[in-house]
Amino acid sequence: MADLSPLIRALRLQAQACAAFGSAFSGELMDKAADDVEQGGPTLTVLAPWADQSTRAIITHAAPVRLLGAFHACALAGDAPALTAAYPAPGRPGDAQEAYAQARRLIEQRPAWFAEFMNHEPQTNEVRRSACLVGGFLTVASETGLPLRCFEVGASAGLNQLWDQFRYRLGDAGAWGEAGSPVVIETDWRGPPPPLDARVQVIERAACDRRPVDISDPAARARLRAYVWADQFDRLQRLDAAVALALAAKVNVETDDAVAWTAERAAPRAGAATVVYHSVFWQYMPQESQAALLAAINAHGAAASEFAPYAWLRMEPPPNDLANMELRLTLWPGGEERLLARVHPHGAEVKWGGG
Ligand SMILES: C[S@@+](CC[C@H](N)C(=O)[O-])C[C@H]1O[C@@H](n2cnc3c(N)ncnc32)[C@H](O)[C@@H]1O
Repeated sequence: MADLSPLIRALRLQAQACAAFGSAFSGELMDKAADDVEQGGPTLTVLAPWADQSTRAIITHAAPVRLLGAFHACALAGDAPALTAAYPAPGRPGDAQEAYAQARRLIEQRPAWFAEFMNHEPQTNEVRRSACLVGGFLTVASETGLPLRCFEVGASAGLNQLWDQFRYRLGDAGAWGEAGSPVVIETDWRGPPPPLDARVQVIERAACDRRPVDISDPAARARLRAYVWADQFDRLQRLDAAVALALAAKVNVETDDAVAWTAERAAPRAGAATVVYHSVFWQYMPQESQAALLAAINAHGAAASEFAPYAWLRMEPPPNDLANMELRLTLWPGGEERLLARVHPHGAEVKWGGG
């Protein structure tokens, strides 16, 4: 019999991560999945493709997140009413014990469906990350005094391309954005405000992803929703509002690799500040691609001028620390790198100034 301890450890780590990032219900489900594997239950059958891997590989391949997403997809679909009834709903906490009992039953009834769902790499698009990015865009607009050309790499469904059409409530720091926007983003803002009085005009926006989520496809939308943790209704509600806005605006995400696309599409141009940006994307590229993308960005930066400035804005974890995130900006000419903020991975908190 294979050593299942790396898998069990991965599920327990995922349980801790869910709880730490505000989803107690998902955390409980992950602990119950670990218990079930320990006791020889059916959960192992759907996790079998990852069962002989190291804990690190299991987490990197997001096997626990695939399982959580599969359960939530069943709960949202409505064709497993006992599972749906045990899931949290606004005003009603979930019953993780009962939910896992129901989910276990579904694993036994629908093994092929679970295998198919979990064969996909999980893909999310976190709209509240725009609350982290917005301070960077405002900084570029304020410091260059020019309209913006915005190029997003690793854009997933492309929802954060519309960052300037959302409404941001930044606590005591103030508010910014479209007053009547259907997408309202609240974040716990610490420190001084970003330059909220900057004049912002986005004159061009484009995005790429190696595997874009096609939000015009109902199945792809359902999958995107399933990866939101079940007791985080505000995230689900924001996602739905942003999807509706993006469909109406006909946002497009080009299917391309970030390196070639950035090199070809995102060069500086006179009369505007060109911004290449990304969030929670860097770690998914192999090291050679990271080096090649850095080289492409540096080459564009070297070609920048006062009339054609170039910015690289990113919300990513520091090296070897996937739990914390930073917002960094490099602005050419000059090319000085700045830490603008330390931020929560889902954008729930922004410590502006990095404090
Ligand atoms: C965790 S998601 C983040 C999506 C989005 N930026 C957000 O913050 O919600 C990472 C995205 O990067 C994309 N990706 C990974 N490597 C890529 C590459 N080399 N070129 C383009 N996209 C890539 C994935 O397909 C995925 O959509």
